[in-house]
Amino acid sequence: MMEEQLLQSSTFIGTANRGYGQQAQEEIIRLFGPPFKFSQLVPNETFRFELPLGKAEATQRLVEQEPMFLRHIQPVDAELDWDGELDSLLEWATSSIKLEAGTLIAVQVRKTEQLATKVSQGEYKQALDLALTKAYATEPVAKGGEFILSLYLTPEKAYIGLSAPEHNLSDWSGGAIRFRKEEGQLSRAKFKLLEAEQVFGLDFSQYKMALDVGAAPGGWTSLLLERGVKVTAIDPAKLDKALLKHPNLTFHQKNASDVKLLADAYELLVCDMSWSPRQMARLIKELLPSLRTGGTAILTVKLMHKKAFQTVRELVGDLSPELSLQKGKQLFHNREELTLFFIKS
Ligand SMILES: C[S@@+](CC[C@H](N)C(=O)[O-])C[C@H]1O[C@@H](n2cnc3c(N)ncnc32)[C@H](O)[C@@H]1O
Repeated sequence: MMEEQLLQSSTFIGTANRGYGQQAQEEIIRLFGPPFKFSQLVPNETFRFELPLGKAEATQRLVEQEPMFLRHIQPVDAELDWDGELDSLLEWATSSIKLEAGTLIAVQVRKTEQLATKVSQGEYKQALDLALTKAYATEPVAKGGEFILSLYLTPEKAYIGLSAPEHNLSDWSGGAIRFRKEEGQLSRAKFKLLEAEQVFGLDFSQYKMALDVGAAPGGWTSLLLERGVKVTAIDPAKLDKALLKHPNLTFHQKNASDVKLLADAYELLVCDMSWSPRQMARLIKELLPSLRTGGTAILTVKLMHKKAFQTVRELVGDLSPELSLQKGKQLFHNREELTLFFIKS
């Protein structure tokens, strides 16, 4: 009986962008229904939660019906009472799990600011990599492993869990996806589109013609040009000079509602304007005849006064039936906004 009850519950640590933990928790409640136990690890950002389902079933639901604001999950297979000492972690990791020789394993360590220890995250990771290699002859990797051993360290507890990378919603530690800043990069905004490409499983090099609405200074346009796409960029503000010479770029330095576009000209429409969402929806609606049936639209949505769900509902309603929502996600590189991926019907 005891065992049965244990099998029917599972514990995770969830992480959202700072200030959006509440929204992530609301989505989890909608998915699983109460009762629940949430406890905050970092206010409105990182939290521990228990679900009345086994680990595999709970993970499957979280992956298949992925919440927009939940950036990352790690399972909690063990909660060690600890004192910041490395030895207790090493002991657990080398005695409580079973790993086959040659398994590629990535160790990801996060710790709260309150954990006053001189050992850095990197040092914990290094020590665990070594210990696992010695105990099981596994192979430590930074990314692309078969498993991730996640550790979340607070002054009182070490939360530890083993999972396949695809079960964590993101294979980056805490979902904090990092891109290298390139020399001469035009805007930080470029990271948003790079992240959207990964998170929505797209490959921009497969598109021939794209429309970038609100393109200046040109981060998104530059990424699409790098992928070999022909881009029509629209913005009353200036695009970076370096882009203007590009043979695959057409630039209209105008307000988007003043530009005449050919029907069915584009397979991809992207828009990163920091406008009120419903105003943006009206503008996008006017431009939609230029997007082919089956085409993709990626839109950044500014979250007004944190009424996130209402904002998304209204916007999706405004854009239907032409656009149908495939996935919405608050990306790591989104600030007070989230990103939506649509297909034109
Ligand atoms: C956040 S920036 C876009 C950054 C861009 N994605 C990048 O990667 O560099 C928003 C842009 O929307 C533009 N914008 C605002 N209203 C617009 C309109 N009616 N038509 C076209 N662009 C507009 C602004 O001029 C501004 O350059």
